[in-house]
Amino acid sequence: MIVLGIETTCDETAASIVIDGKHILSNTICSQADYHSQFRGVFPEYASRNHVDLLLPTIEKSLTEANISSNDIDLIAVANRPGLMGPLLMGLNCAKALAFCWDIPFVCVNHLEAHLYAAMMEQKTISFPALGVVVSGGHTFMVEINSFRNYRLIGASIDDAIGEAFDKVAAMLNLPYPGGPEIEKLATTGDPKRYPFKAGLVKNNRFNFSFSGLKTQVLYAIKGANSNKHSPSIIHEEDKKDVAASFQQVALTDIVKKALSAAVVINATDIFVGGGVTNSSKLKEIFTILTPNNTKIHYPPKNLSIDNGAMIAGLGYHVGTSDLASMSFKENAVPSGAVLFD
Ligand code: KG4
Ligand code: ZN
Repeated sequence: MIVLGIETTCDETAASIVIDGKHILSNTICSQADYHSQFRGVFPEYASRNHVDLLLPTIEKSLTEANISSNDIDLIAVANRPGLMGPLLMGLNCAKALAFCWDIPFVCVNHLEAHLYAAMMEQKTISFPALGVVVSGGHTFMVEINSFRNYRLIGASIDDAIGEAFDKVAAMLNLPYPGGPEIEKLATTGDPKRYPFKAGLVKNNRFNFSFSGLKTQVLYAIKGANSNKHSPSIIHEEDKKDVAASFQQVALTDIVKKALSAAVVINATDIFVGGGVTNSSKLKEIFTILTPNNTKIHYPPKNLSIDNGAMIAGLGYHVGTSDLASMSFKENAVPSGAVLFD
């Protein structure tokens, strides 16, 4: 089955052609990051307007790169949740219109579930229970995966998502958006032990995350005690490398340690990690150092870490072949509240 996947939940306009949920023929990603970097974050209205301009050319490019025509497509999959309302509506209504014109079905998929699917896509078999960890710009959570597409929430961030914390710390350091890759670059020559930052421990659930306190510690290190984000920086340029390295080390180690202990508790030896922060080599390095021999960490293949259409098309194949009720023109965009895969 040939599936066209459409992704417009935030600031990437992406389309992809995938066969049978696995074989990627094209994965076209048109990032708007350069545009949004002037605002040091995503400007939702402009993200929607950019999708208006970029979406159809991106889909056309994806068809060309896959060397197929629209007549070859069997199913359209689109991410309809969670995300920014305007961008979601762009992708969803485009998918509905194309499905209507081409007289083929379309399905809606959850963007976060698709991030996890990206880490599973290359697996021939998966042993359950497994642990799923989503580390993206908008969400951070862990699920027990009891069987394929069957999840139980174990823990989630009670405030900022990990990627959001990277983006906000980057803004404090005057680095462009998206902040994660910039912090990683700056941190390469920094001392990760210089600043004794601490990630949050959440009392009622040790598998929850909290990054807002860590963010405040970083703010005070850069701008002084009781400063705010508009206060001037009081540290030297050289010290910024150490701030970046110390923040990165603490934030990512918190994710890795909580994931590894959750895996022990649920008796999982396979951990699937998805979302934009899996782009981080540092995250992989820390996992490699701390992971015991009996446990295996799986990441998305290249270009499937950040938002993309291939994970949507891949998961869409499974939704389309098992969940016929989801193929309805009545499906709507759902901007938030979708940590669990409803
Ligand atoms: O999953 P994603 O593409 O978008 C959402 O669904 O939110 O994730 C984007 C996030 C951004 O916050 C970005 O700063 C972060 O992923 N990110 C990184 C790295 N590359 C991207 N965070 C840390 N280190 C990186 N190398
Ligand atoms: Zn994402």
